[in-house]
Amino acid sequence: MEFAGNKSVITPEGVFIIGTYDENGIPNAMNAAWGMQSDMGEITLMLARHKTTENFEKTGAFTVAFGTVDTMVISDYFGVETGRKVNKIEKAGCHVHRSAHVNAPIIEEYPLTLECKVKSWDAETGYLIGEIVASQADESILTDGKVDLGKLKPIIFDPSFNVYRVVGEAVGNAFRDGLQLK
Ligand SMILES: Cc1cc2nc3c(=O)[nH]c(=O)nc-3n(C[C@H](O)[C@H](O)[C@H](O)COP(=O)(O)O)c2cc1C
Repeated sequence: MEFAGNKSVITPEGVFIIGTYDENGIPNAMNAAWGMQSDMGEITLMLARHKTTENFEKTGAFTVAFGTVDTMVISDYFGVETGRKVNKIEKAGCHVHRSAHVNAPIIEEYPLTLECKVKSWDAETGYLIGEIVASQADESILTDGKVDLGKLKPIIFDPSFNVYRVVGEAVGNAFRDGLQLK
């Protein structure tokens, strides 16, 4: 049956936490669901105008942390309050330090963060493309030096019910399980 008009459920929608500094070095964070890997070392996000966009227009940089079960409440908060009115980082009780690679904050409460330079930004279409120049990961989410999603417990946004869901267990082997039908 047809349903929902153009309010499609294109899953998964991420919980991408975009970290930026303003011109005075005040850190900010926002929650964005619409984003994806668009090339090796490249992330694309779709953004309306926010304090965040004003910030990276000036600094040319941003970070992307991944919302997790443990950071769910602060992640949602970063999407329901604007840095134009309050210092969300302070209000959320978060700790930040400047990335060694780009002029953007790393929020220490998040275990995995990408450090990005603005590759292109079109304020009309809202397409932000970032070059990922480095990444930071806590030891606690690594297995054999690789990001272990079972340990990270990333969350996704479910637009049907406006809830966050946790990414679950591995159910198969990519590039392998399909070979039996080849
Ligand atoms: C679950 C969720 C997903 C969101 N996804 C996006 C998104 O993909 N793009 C966008 O422009 N805003 C999105 N927002 C809205 C921004 O996070 C929100 O407007 C925020 O206040 C902007 O913060 P800032 O003004 O401090 O930059 C989302 C909010 C929530 C709660």
